[in-house]
Amino acid sequence: MKPKVLVAREVFDDTLAYLNQHCQVTSNQVDQRYSPQELAANLRGMDGAVMTTAERIDAQLLDGCPTVKVISNAAVGYNNVDVHACTQRGVMVTNTPGVLTESVADYAMGLIVATCRRITEAEHYLRNGEWKGTFLKQMLGMDVHGATLGIFGFGRIGLAIAQRARGFDMKVIYNNRHRAALDDERSVSATYVSKDDLLRQADVVLLIMPYNQETHHFIGEAQLAMMKPSAVLINVARGGIVDDAALIRALKRKQIWAAGLDVYENEPQFLPEFLTLKNVVLSPHIASSSEPTRKAMAMTAARNCVAALLGDTPPNLINPDGKKRST
Ligand code: GLV
Repeated sequence: MKPKVLVAREVFDDTLAYLNQHCQVTSNQVDQRYSPQELAANLRGMDGAVMTTAERIDAQLLDGCPTVKVISNAAVGYNNVDVHACTQRGVMVTNTPGVLTESVADYAMGLIVATCRRITEAEHYLRNGEWKGTFLKQMLGMDVHGATLGIFGFGRIGLAIAQRARGFDMKVIYNNRHRAALDDERSVSATYVSKDDLLRQADVVLLIMPYNQETHHFIGEAQLAMMKPSAVLINVARGGIVDDAALIRALKRKQIWAAGLDVYENEPQFLPEFLTLKNVVLSPHIASSSEPTRKAMAMTAARNCVAALLGDTPPNLINPDGKKRST
């Protein structure tokens, strides 16, 4: 008997074809997000799930679905999954690192340029028919070249962003839980600094770090107050790392100059006041969303799931103890 797998969100045809070769698949191809109750009902009796960051997996859900052996998240971040609860119940958790690095780094640079050079504000101005002529003080922005980029989080993606930033002639400083290997630092001429020094020195503060209890509201009122009034904040990591209400206050009183955000607290909800601000560039959590990358993420998640259910160690297993208990 083939193992039973729930695919909780729409996937690409080749992902589905691959899963169908190895599993009995129930797929949410209409792509309406399941409510927590629907997710629980659909997961019951399954051996595994392929899902996205929009689905939450917690102890209560797992207790109602004791046959589940693997949760395969089609994302690099996995703060939507209670990994501890999974491990305790012998459920493997996997993610999709690597395949999205370059696309997220491209997007981060896009958000930096769009925010510093006010690209979306300028487009709205043009679309609204406000452009009556060209003049010297029009839409004055901040230069990206020559600016100091401060990166919080210096894993694969942080490093890939630093590489691109060097091409823009930015100076790179970074802060991370652990200092990076010297070779990595040298390859992008990056300097390790403390959290406070980064906040004080950077013209662009960029977040690309995991979200967990320690990083909840890592940027709040006090940190925003340390940034330069001319600084820009970019978040391509996770909502919750930034205290969004504090950010709105800082943007309103021009305590910092602007923000570029791809992620928010309580997605897909976000504080509506963001929409009233001109000095923000907003996007709906799409940093990894190029077609090849999303296809690669879906296929990686599918391969992780199949490997787990065929008794192999999935390539991107987050909790090796989850496997020990489930086999
Ligand atoms: C997207 O946000 C991811 O974690 O892959």
